[in-house]
Amino acid sequence: MKILSVELKNYRNYKNIKINFNDGLNVLVGKNAQGKTNLLESVFLCAIGKSPRVNKDKDLINWNEEHSKITLSLEKQSGKKTIEIFLFKNQNKAIKINGVQILRYSELLGEFNAIYFSPDDLKLVKESPDERRRFMDIDLSQFNKNYFYALSKYNKVLAQRNKLLKTSKNFESLKETVSVWNESLAKYGSYVILKRLELINKLNNYANITEQELTNNEENIKLSYTGLSGTEEEIKQNIVLNLEKSLEKDYSLGYTTFGPHRDDFKIEVNNIDIRHFGSQGQQRTATLSLKLAELEVFKEYFNEYPILLLDDVLSELDNKRKNMLLNKTLNFQTILTCTEFDYDVNCTKFVINNGEISNIKQ
Ligand SMILES: Nc1ncnc2c1ncn2[C@@H]1O[C@H](COP(=O)(O)OP(=O)(O)OP(=O)(O)O)[C@@H](O)[C@H]1O
Ligand SMILES: [Mg+2]
Repeated sequence: MKILSVELKNYRNYKNIKINFNDGLNVLVGKNAQGKTNLLESVFLCAIGKSPRVNKDKDLINWNEEHSKITLSLEKQSGKKTIEIFLFKNQNKAIKINGVQILRYSELLGEFNAIYFSPDDLKLVKESPDERRRFMDIDLSQFNKNYFYALSKYNKVLAQRNKLLKTSKNFESLKETVSVWNESLAKYGSYVILKRLELINKLNNYANITEQELTNNEENIKLSYTGLSGTEEEIKQNIVLNLEKSLEKDYSLGYTTFGPHRDDFKIEVNNIDIRHFGSQGQQRTATLSLKLAELEVFKEYFNEYPILLLDDVLSELDNKRKNMLLNKTLNFQTILTCTEFDYDVNCTKFVINNGEISNIKQ
């Protein structure tokens, strides 16, 4: 998969630009606050329909304008594709694929695949389980529309069950009515857990190869899903059992305390949980291993590599990690941002200056 061009109209600090990307490594060089991250953000928006930085579309539109448009031209194994995203200040965005407007955001998922990696991704390893659930959910939603559907359904049913927990007159009446919601949560939740288990298993294998390579075989990384396991049917039955067991607690708290919405995955390096006990360097290496593993898992699902978007990550890495990452970029298309770039690698360089782009011939 490769991006041929990106056109931005009134997107953040861009008025009207078109940038043609090449195979392999594309480098966006510029001083701070010139628009490097904005450009990567616009590309990632075409992959999942959401910015990696903000929730509101209106923040993406140039402050002096009412609407904005991103056009991404793409070449895939299956042929050429154009994705257009229209952003409006006061209404929902519209998305067209090859000129045809899609009716649901889920239709966009899997059309164009990109992996975004920024220094902020350290939070994937360091912070609360929410970050890791989001990571699994975004990846799986791109691989599998059924996952996206099951997760949306699960979240809707969960909200309904929580409402019931809060509004039931007494525990007895709750016990009578809650079982239908438990069954529904178990149906969608078991599928969500099963797919997450598969993903973590795959990521675990790839991440460990990279981790060993980066640490001269000194460190092993192990990812494990912290939730139920087993077959889909076993997971389903176990969800029901656990929901029944925790009903009294849920009733007193007013929300559901058991299920995939509370799950996580653990990252251990040499059998130590690095979220709590890892050094900063171990956490950084694990983040890199996890991101590179993500790339391989995408390749496995789609039979072609996604685009790699690297926002300002080189300055955070030591030479060994930098070289490994830059060497990897020879295998697929990468767009990398930095304030200075003087590495001896084959690449196309662009200079970004206050929302204007110029191409430097290498
Ligand atoms: N909606 C908007 N309209 C106009 N300008 C905006 C909008 N949102 C952000 N900007 C501006 O875009 C500029 C560039 O931001 P960006 O994050 O892309 O910089 P950058 O080149 O990645 O810088 P750094 O090297 O510091 O990361 C910022 O100065 C910001 O104020
Ligand atoms: Mg930036």
